[in-house]
Amino acid sequence: MWKPTERIKYKAQPALNPTAEEAQNALLYSSIKLGNVELKHRTWVPAMVPWRSTDEGYVTKDVIEWYSRFAEGRPGVIVVEATGIRDIASGPLLRISDDRFIPGLKELSSAVHEASQGETRLFIQLIDFLSIRRRPQADKFFNRFLQITDQHKANLSMEDAEEEAVRLRLASLSDEELDIVLSQRELEALRVGYRERVTDVDQEHIQNLPELLPDLFSKAALRAKEANFDGVELHYAHAYTMASFLSKKNDRKDSYGGSPENRLRLPLEVYEKVRHAVGNDYTVGCRFLSDECIEGGSDLDDAIFYGLKFAAAGMDFLSLSRGGKFEDAKQPQVGWATYPYTGKSGYECMPGYISDDFGPFGRNVAPVAKIRKAIQEAGHKTPVVLVGGIYDFQQAEQILQRGDADIIGAARQSLADPDWFRKILLGKGNQVRTCEFTNYCEGLDQKHKQVTCQLWDRIDRDKTTSLSHDGKRRLVAPDWQIEK
Ligand SMILES: Cc1cc2nc3c(=O)[nH]c(=O)nc-3n(C[C@H](O)[C@H](O)[C@H](O)COP(=O)(O)O)c2cc1C
Repeated sequence: MWKPTERIKYKAQPALNPTAEEAQNALLYSSIKLGNVELKHRTWVPAMVPWRSTDEGYVTKDVIEWYSRFAEGRPGVIVVEATGIRDIASGPLLRISDDRFIPGLKELSSAVHEASQGETRLFIQLIDFLSIRRRPQADKFFNRFLQITDQHKANLSMEDAEEEAVRLRLASLSDEELDIVLSQRELEALRVGYRERVTDVDQEHIQNLPELLPDLFSKAALRAKEANFDGVELHYAHAYTMASFLSKKNDRKDSYGGSPENRLRLPLEVYEKVRHAVGNDYTVGCRFLSDECIEGGSDLDDAIFYGLKFAAAGMDFLSLSRGGKFEDAKQPQVGWATYPYTGKSGYECMPGYISDDFGPFGRNVAPVAKIRKAIQEAGHKTPVVLVGGIYDFQQAEQILQRGDADIIGAARQSLADPDWFRKILLGKGNQVRTCEFTNYCEGLDQKHKQVTCQLWDRIDRDKTTSLSHDGKRRLVAPDWQIEK
């Protein structure tokens, strides 16, 4: 993971905890409506992929245990991890790409509603992503993957040579020589792994994304409704297809790239089709970026523009993340795919405890406050969800009191202690297990290992506890025994 050069170490230190009475009167524990759905509290567990589904994308017992454990802490909302809308193999990531996934998802929604005693609303994040390949071994790349073109032959002055001879020659070149002979995309395919982009319009399936995606998203949303989810979150954030359409780097020459209006076209068309499918009384929102945090990417002004348009279109909530892009990700090892949370933009998405002068806590507050202000000033009431390094009641309550956001999301703090919102509500804030922001969880995610938290995954492992594949880590946080 990339770290700021200042390398200043921070420790999350909760301020004074409220009494139960103070907490009950806090804005954080007041209700709010997202469309037709009423949240009991303004507390939110954002999407987190835990690598618990089957390789075919089905809900498992471990998926149910994972979300039920969060539900015991009774947050206002839990958003189920990024769930694929395409019926293609994508490893142990949940899918909602066909009706055959509905029974498992139904079981999941019942389990969460039951574990929270009906207090938590369950949303599901719908994602589309393009193809990405692992970083190849150089010899395989030159022998097999690379398509030899006349340009390569010309660059090597080997116009009349056989393809095999060109491949051999390329494989013998130094990095500096390859920089001259191969195109940027070929170099990327060699050094990082091939990655499709929404701008690859010479490929029919990419050119046709605007025809395909509204239908896929709307069918997935209908399945979510059928599986008794309380709403859907369209994933327009980070490194994935819809965020790539919104990105300032999207220079498609058709009506889906270039100007901000064009970049927004597909996200709005997807929303319209989803809305049409699920009806006005079903909660639909999206997650997008307050800033891409990459050179030449979309910035806060773009985010304000998008936020206004999403609100005007009728979205029921807007959840703001930041960063998390492929463009500045670290080079992966051979055999691994690039991971969008390893560069500077990844740091902005999940800031760790080693930081710069600003520190890892609340880096998204100021930009989100500006987005919300613009939305409110335009006369919309669309609730705005904020995340990013939030772990403490005072911090959360002040954000709400100032009107910087309407709902507080906490991913890693909720993973560290799924009961934390509830403990504070009951006046037991001193019992909260506070996240150390070491990004142990994110490191596991990066290796596609079952995500756990280092603060609890070695505690009380007995025969009744579900353990990770290597048998070393418990998969859900220990129960909270309410201490008097
Ligand atoms: C293990 C892990 C998995 C994540 N998976 C997703 C995901 O599926 N979709 C998403 O939008 N964000 C995902 N995130 C990002 C979080 O939702 C959140 O935006 C980020 O961790 C910053 O919030 P925090 O500081 O409260 O942790 C993930 C984060 C972690 C740690």
